[in-house]
Amino acid sequence: MYICICKGLTENHIAKSIQELERSYGYVNISLIQNYTGAATKCGCCKDQIQQFIKDSQKMVVKK
Ligand code: FES
Repeated sequence: MYICICKGLTENHIAKSIQELERSYGYVNISLIQNYTGAATKCGCCKDQIQQFIKDSQKMVVKK
C-alpha cells in the first residue's frame, strides 16, 4: 500500500528505509526519512502517517 503517493513510496519502501537509517545513524526521524526517500517533501499529507510508522517501528525494536 502506498504511503506517499507523490513520491510513489509504499509501506515496504518506508519500512526498509527506516531499517537502513537505523543501522546507519542509530536513530530515525522524519527529517532523515525525508532526505533519504523524498517522502513528505511535496504535498506533505503523508507526513503524519510516516511519523506514526516510525513510532510503530521503534515500538517493535523495543519489544525484540
Ligand atoms: S503524499 Fe507524500 S508528499 Fe504528497
